[in-house]
Amino acid sequence: MTIASDASTLRDEIAARLITARARTAGLTDCIDDADLIRQHSPLMSPLVWDLAHVANQEELWLLRGVGGREPLHPEIDPLYDAFEHPRAKRPTLPLLDPAEARSYASDVRGRVLDLIERVSFTADPLVDQGFVFGMIAQHEQQHDETMLATHQLRTGRPVLSAPAPAPAPADVLRLPAEVLVPGGYFTMGTSTEPWALDNERPAHDVAVQSFYLDTTPVTNASYAAFIGDGGYARENLWNPAGWAYRQKADLTAPLFWEQGGSGQWLRRRFGLTEPVPPAEPVVHVCWYEADAYARWAGRRLPTEAEWEKAARFDPAARRSRRYPWGDEDPSPERANLGQRHLQPAPAGSHPAGAAPSKAHQLIGDV
Ligand SMILES: [Fe+2]
Repeated sequence: MTIASDASTLRDEIAARLITARARTAGLTDCIDDADLIRQHSPLMSPLVWDLAHVANQEELWLLRGVGGREPLHPEIDPLYDAFEHPRAKRPTLPLLDPAEARSYASDVRGRVLDLIERVSFTADPLVDQGFVFGMIAQHEQQHDETMLATHQLRTGRPVLSAPAPAPAPADVLRLPAEVLVPGGYFTMGTSTEPWALDNERPAHDVAVQSFYLDTTPVTNASYAAFIGDGGYARENLWNPAGWAYRQKADLTAPLFWEQGGSGQWLRRRFGLTEPVPPAEPVVHVCWYEADAYARWAGRRLPTEAEWEKAARFDPAARRSRRYPWGDEDPSPERANLGQRHLQPAPAGSHPAGAAPSKAHQLIGDV
């Protein structure tokens, strides 16, 4: 996001970001009953009620205590919501706040934080400079919204989520070239100037890559089904050795959530709904080993992280890295499929307004 330079606008932006994240959290937790909030839907995930109180606990810890200097509201619950103390698989056995208590705690903390925002001064202290720690907490809640969305995908039972926008329109992928050329040379990776960027994206540093070609769009379900149909999961020579061992151990035969219907067509489960796999959508729910094997089958390879970031951000005309593929402006629905807007990826070739200078599409969003 673009960060305001004056304190009043910055206060408004911070409050808006926190409120947006909380609306998303509410949408992911108000749609199911208490039993479903408490239940662990997968050993990989926390019960949703844990995420709810953990988000509030982190907000209290960093903003009310860290910035505001307040005493803990409920010190006895801190250890329950410390993600380093308890692995996810063990969290259902903890004496967690129940759904009503978790909601009340979250709303109590939020009310106090909104008061704090009104009177905080954004000094040069790195914790509050340009609102950093407030941005961190808004992003933390959005990250847990992503986690909760993944929990919803792993949950069984009837569908409870609905997309705010209709299914994305078809894309005119046939008019696009199959691949784009990303020129070799140095580019700036990471950032030293983005005020809310976390430490793992800092500092900006120059990295050189060789020229390479990248597919213009993400790999589609149709292409991935062709790989499966050509025996992709049975041909050891397409997999790297660790990937082949994992494929056998985990008995991978298709992307997670795919199953073959009676007449052989591929179906997928999406947030409780079973539907035909849309051929034009980017393939999702494959691991790195599967993507690597697919790429080898297609006569290609996966990009490195540096290659990917250069394709997504580097503007050869201006000789600098952009904030986003399309430029420096904040995301919009025309530019990228973000924020569970459709609850599914947009077809490959969508969002031409969000294409990178390399002309590659959909380097942000969809998944
Ligand atoms: Fe967290």
